[in-house]
Amino acid sequence: MKITVIGAGHVGATAAHRIAEQQLANTVVLFDILEGIPQGKALDMYESGPVGLFDTKVYGTTDYNDTADSDIILITAGMARKPGMSREDLLMKNATIVKEVTDQVVRYSKNPIIIMVSNPLDIMTHVGYIRSKLPKERVLGMAGVLDSARFRSFIAEELNVSMRDINAFVLGGHGDSMVPVVKYTSVAGIPLTELMAQDTIEQLVNRTRKGGAEIVNYLKNGSAYYAPASSAVEMIDAIVNDRKRILPCSALLDGQYGINNVYIGAPVKLGKNGIEQILEIDLDAPELDALRKSAAIVEENCNNLASLLA
Ligand code: LAC
Repeated sequence: MKITVIGAGHVGATAAHRIAEQQLANTVVLFDILEGIPQGKALDMYESGPVGLFDTKVYGTTDYNDTADSDIILITAGMARKPGMSREDLLMKNATIVKEVTDQVVRYSKNPIIIMVSNPLDIMTHVGYIRSKLPKERVLGMAGVLDSARFRSFIAEELNVSMRDINAFVLGGHGDSMVPVVKYTSVAGIPLTELMAQDTIEQLVNRTRKGGAEIVNYLKNGSAYYAPASSAVEMIDAIVNDRKRILPCSALLDGQYGINNVYIGAPVKLGKNGIEQILEIDLDAPELDALRKSAAIVEENCNNLASLLA
């Protein structure tokens, strides 16, 4: 198993280190265009092997040749948000970067699974899909796991219970239009609505929607990376170990939820072939409506990129 991480910034480097520590690959390649950064960070990670107890080879490079024959490629390249910016503000800049990166990686790896992390997430996943010409099952985006993790952490804090007992699904686009599905949120199987007042639930839903911005406002010069990296690595673990996990991921829908040809967060089954199934769960009318609105925003932005993608 060879895993390439494109982008040696905070998300990429944190993810690469977790992949190595969890020994999810024999080789982890950390790629960046900034000479010295991927090499330095990768060497530093490799040197943590004896104390972190892993034998994974980690190396850094600025040469796409070294990414050859990767099984999984995690794309984190691009600009991060600054305070006041929406994820969509990054659209043109990151679309250009993600297009270039995707074109390059598929020259060297014939049939990889691409996991997109760059923002605006659903749109960048679409860019990766179009440019890579890979089957749609092999191109997916990380957002729902992160958004659900945020929601779960807020619920755990509010109820003072263990994070591990909380199940939650956040669907839709990774943006202000995301759709936390309260109906399928439970604590050890007990519906959240039996444990928490409606207005508290609404506060937590709201905080989840703005979860990314909350971190950006603290950091000022960048966006979140620990939870995003952990979330991406959870998806990688599901693929590498063929776990058939059901996780919310950005996937190309073809008719599910009445949505066609748009990347949007939906529950999928993740295994060694990438997306092995897209689950269509029963949503209430307002949630379904929110999901479709979210998809419409993604679709409109993708249409604006048509000339770039051609
Ligand atoms: C976030 C950014 C990375 O949600 O999209 O933190």
